[in-house]
Amino acid sequence: MEGWLPFPMPTAKAPLLTMTSNSLIANMASAASLEPTGSETGFKTGVEVSALSNPLLRPVGSTPVGKVYLVGAGPGDPGLLTVKAKTLVECADVVIFDALVSEPILAMVNPRAERIHAGKRRGRHSLSQADITQLLLHKAHEHAVVVRLKGGDPFVFGRGGEEMGDLMAAGIPVEVVPGITAGIAAPAYAGIPITHRGYSSSVTFVTGHESAGKYRPEVNWQAIAHASETIVVYMGVHNLPNITQSLIEAGLPLDTPVALIRWGTRPEQDELIGTLENIVEKVRVSGFQSPAITVVGKVVDLRANLAAASPVYGEHWESTQPAMS
Ligand SMILES: C[S@@+](CC[C@H](N)C(=O)[O-])C[C@H]1O[C@@H](n2cnc3c(N)ncnc32)[C@H](O)[C@@H]1O
Repeated sequence: MEGWLPFPMPTAKAPLLTMTSNSLIANMASAASLEPTGSETGFKTGVEVSALSNPLLRPVGSTPVGKVYLVGAGPGDPGLLTVKAKTLVECADVVIFDALVSEPILAMVNPRAERIHAGKRRGRHSLSQADITQLLLHKAHEHAVVVRLKGGDPFVFGRGGEEMGDLMAAGIPVEVVPGITAGIAAPAYAGIPITHRGYSSSVTFVTGHESAGKYRPEVNWQAIAHASETIVVYMGVHNLPNITQSLIEAGLPLDTPVALIRWGTRPEQDELIGTLENIVEKVRVSGFQSPAITVVGKVVDLRANLAAASPVYGEHWESTQPAMS
């Protein structure tokens, strides 16, 4: 038996946006009697709270276990956090977060929640992937609402699928909450639509992170070069000389436009524009560093016209409504 808390909040019985998970659990007996608001439309419109995490609903004698939410935090601008992600961040008992989750989003975490930095940046590993999985299993036996907060989208180069599989194998209830991925948002904030009529009708998302770590994906750059008009590379700065060389050898013209967008959607967003022929030299001269999204293709040229209307960080998420008393 599962209860669905309706969106938008609050309801008289369960004002979830202001609740911690403890009070949320205490309210679940009444919440469980609410009509599931999503089922009529076929959409899951609320934050599901598993009966397993509710001591009032749990079968007598069963092992108490919470639920893990694999939540996408988006690329940085807190205005790009989904409503569902924000609700979970505000009511979680524990938040285990990655290095790319931005400070304004961490500031939304319930002050009483435990925060654990599991961040990984090149060459620095706070926690190994095995440690993170163990931690999630452990916390799911301690708390009702465990949020695993990841930059962008958990299933886009975020190892979300692996974590979900491990949790499911261990019998832990788990759910993914998709986020806005950097490969779409960072170009958008730089004035680059990744598809555009007359420029590009297809996109490939690919990892450029081929040289570090035990897991080395074999990217077929020859195929990638001809598969779509826009190529969006994650984690590609370090390996950019090999990537550009491979794309040129595959037959892409030397003057193919390339954009690098670092810390996209954040106040410190920075861009570097060039071509397949000169972008590596531009990176060397400027000292441009990761984390950055690389966009290869004619759509980069649209930036000249569209960048002037790019979103301003933070401007879209602060409410202009007077605060409710
Ligand atoms: C491990 S991947 C995680 C991707 C993430 N799951 C997503 O959907 O955006 C990390 C890479 O994503 C890219 N990235 C994440 N956030 C970014 C941002 N705000 N600006 C530019 N690139 C970003 C960079 O290429 C970075 O090296």
